Amino acid sequence: MGPAESKTELNIQKAFKAEMRARASYQAYAQKAESEGNPELAKLFRAVAASEEIHSQALLRCLKETSRTTVDLWAAGLYDPESLKETTATNLQRAIEAETEEFTNQYPQMIQDADTEGWTTARETFHHVNMVERVHAAMFREALDQLGRNQPAEYHLCEVCGNTIERKPIGPCEVCDAPEATFQALR
Ligand SMILES: [Fe+2]
Ligand SMILES: [Fe+2]
Repeated sequence: MGPAESKTELNIQKAFKAEMRARASYQAYAQKAESEGNPELAKLFRAVAASEEIHSQALLRCLKETSRTTVDLWAAGLYDPESLKETTATNLQRAIEAETEEFTNQYPQMIQDADTEGWTTARETFHHVNMVERVHAAMFREALDQLGRNQPAEYHLCEVCGNTIERKPIGPCEVCDAPEATFQALR
């Protein structure tokens, strides 16, 4: 099978765009939460936006392996001012739905395609991203449950897989096994 027929190559492009769109949405949701007087939630949205950016970079690295990097993908992450119109409660609900769709449908299928086609790095990257989307969905779910009384948290991000934790790391990344030093505190 030639590269042009590869499902996995198309999947990487599709996933890259989705991660960039998610990043743009979460940045807008953060602004909205800030304007609603909820800085704790603004911080959560910014942490997850940073994680989605790590995902998009990891996916792009998979694409580079084919030496067919599509530069116009960079233009995919457009800011969506429509997102600012909704309340943070709605934004959280949307975020939960989007993350859940990713870890229940999108990434499992992409993992299977990469498996079939023998794209080992892409398979591993999809797998890590999938696990982190599950983490994101759980964080947003808890934030929605706690809405109005959200507690401040110190977010740390794994620079390899985007794993997002609400405390300082203890030991290697639970998702990708990268060393503790790979975690960066959200600025
Ligand atoms: Fe996510
Ligand atoms: Fe990680």
